[in-house]
Amino acid sequence: MAPIDPHSYADSSHPLTTHISLSFYFDFPSSTIASSALLSLSAPHSGPLTLDTRSLSISAVIDSVTGAPLPFTLSSSPDAVLGQSLTLTLSNQSKLLILSTTAPSSSALQWLSPPQTFNKSYPFVFTQCQAIHARSIFPCQDTPAARIKFAAKLNIPRYLSAVMAAKHVNRRDPAAGECGGACDDSLWCAEGRVVEEFVMEQPVPPYLFAFAVGELGFREVGPRTKVYSEAVPTVLDAAAREFAGSEEMIKVGEALFGPYEWERFDLLVLPPSFPYGGMENPRMTFLTPTVIKGDATGAQVVAHELAHSWTGNLITNKNNDHFWLNEGFTTYAERRIVEVVQGKERAILNIGIGWRGLVEQMERFKDRMEFTKLRTNQQGVDPDDIYSDVPYEKGFQFLWRIERQVGRPAFDEFLKKYIANFKFQSIDTDMFLDFLKANIPGIEDQIDLKVWTEGTGIPPDAMEPASEIYTKIVLLANEFKSGTMPNEDDVAQWGGQEWELYLENLPKSVEASQLAALDERYRLAESKDYEVKVAFLQHAIASRCSSYYNEVEKTLKEVGRMKYLRPLYRALVQGAGKEEEKMFARRVFSEACTGYHPIAKGVVEAIFAKYL
Ligand code: BES
Ligand code: ZN
Repeated sequence: MAPIDPHSYADSSHPLTTHISLSFYFDFPSSTIASSALLSLSAPHSGPLTLDTRSLSISAVIDSVTGAPLPFTLSSSPDAVLGQSLTLTLSNQSKLLILSTTAPSSSALQWLSPPQTFNKSYPFVFTQCQAIHARSIFPCQDTPAARIKFAAKLNIPRYLSAVMAAKHVNRRDPAAGECGGACDDSLWCAEGRVVEEFVMEQPVPPYLFAFAVGELGFREVGPRTKVYSEAVPTVLDAAAREFAGSEEMIKVGEALFGPYEWERFDLLVLPPSFPYGGMENPRMTFLTPTVIKGDATGAQVVAHELAHSWTGNLITNKNNDHFWLNEGFTTYAERRIVEVVQGKERAILNIGIGWRGLVEQMERFKDRMEFTKLRTNQQGVDPDDIYSDVPYEKGFQFLWRIERQVGRPAFDEFLKKYIANFKFQSIDTDMFLDFLKANIPGIEDQIDLKVWTEGTGIPPDAMEPASEIYTKIVLLANEFKSGTMPNEDDVAQWGGQEWELYLENLPKSVEASQLAALDERYRLAESKDYEVKVAFLQHAIASRCSSYYNEVEKTLKEVGRMKYLRPLYRALVQGAGKEEEKMFARRVFSEACTGYHPIAKGVVEAIFAKYL
């Protein structure tokens, strides 16, 4: 028995799943899904086979060839990180049917009641499976080492529609008695329900499994791209404008990294509680509505998720210890796309914002330096708790360092070859290093690969970017210490990213009166741009400027993106002698948490557990 992934019960001596046929029956009143999952293994297997589950109830496991029930055991007490193992006992089977039901608390799913949506009329449900939440929807080998094709039938109320990170093949009436095993009223089934069918013909890791069900509409923005969201014309129009440049970006990606292998690149704008900025679900990227603000950032997030179509969805890490292979490469690829579509200055600004983020994380992890490494050891660790800029920005810095060493043309050639070589595989850091050394002979004598991949902290040959705008902003931020504010001329051309960089470079503790003066002049606390607003509010909390706490509360209640929740809650509860802020944080969380995605809720609870 040897585990293949610190975050999975899957065993190295067991065959992996290659295909799953799924049927889901969505029950909105109980916030549950009854499912049947037909797993096909790469080879027949005898003896125990262990799958991952979290908060699932299992009603039966069946040999799908003979129809005979198969013995199974669910481990009795759930592991806080891994959930429960489901052990089946097989005798030479390769196809098993598992019937199960999700819990309302399923960590991958957020069920929104009608009042929690834009249009207030219909319920909505969506998934977030990365890093290890697919197991809370159906039992599976929930490790990216497994690459799985699938077919899925979603039985949903007729007034809703479904999208998936998969190819849509049909919307049809349910067949007689086809109700996912959850309902015995066939008349109601046939009249009130509809079945949406999808297939995913390319093998994908379980963390890329995704769907959303609600009252959805779309706009066509390119030959390969539709933008979906709740069917609210103003939202759809704003989204269509924001993402109009998607086709151009796909073409840029193809020129840089090779053919786009996923046929379509659709986008889904979720309700504000979506816990991430974007999620690269194949064929259907999921996005927070907070990126729709008519500036460069919407395109930047799309560039990032699009870049995953090569670096991530084609080549992924075989487990989360090597997560940098996924996000570091994608951050590099994102910036290459941004450089082409938005220009070098914008790309450098993004590198600069990333650099600040990386430096910050060194402080956050000063007692847990393991998580400042590229290759990490995540045994016993919840990946959601240690999510950080490190794999993104240190990974980016590593690749940028190699690019500087060999020159851009040679590095571009290397990248294309790397992608073509490992596509549809899940790899680890050593496989990357071996490939690097084989294709760029002598690189190990020029760059200390061990320091980069195994060392803690920021390597000495990492580089802060330099450009006129970047350098000027950092300078202006330093001048703030001596009481100088940027003047109107300085900021005339600033967009959200410039302000974000400025605010992130301000000293950690600034005078409350100085902050108020800055806000008086530039209205940062009320910015429509959450990056700017949250960067400002963090300073306001650090300076204990309680006049801004109303705005903090409002922000924590209107968005569920963890990029905003984490720093605000952390600023409130971290450090001694802040009883008032701690009580405030507790109260706001207790009022806001019903609107948070379960993953976001868990992350805030982990912050409280650490500091309260
Ligand atoms: N795949 C990530 C989001 C993610 C990472 C979800 C780990 C769960 C676990 C996605 O590609 C991402 O990085 N999103 C960023 C966008 C950005 C860097 C432009 C985000 O959500 O902020
Ligand atoms: Zn990413």
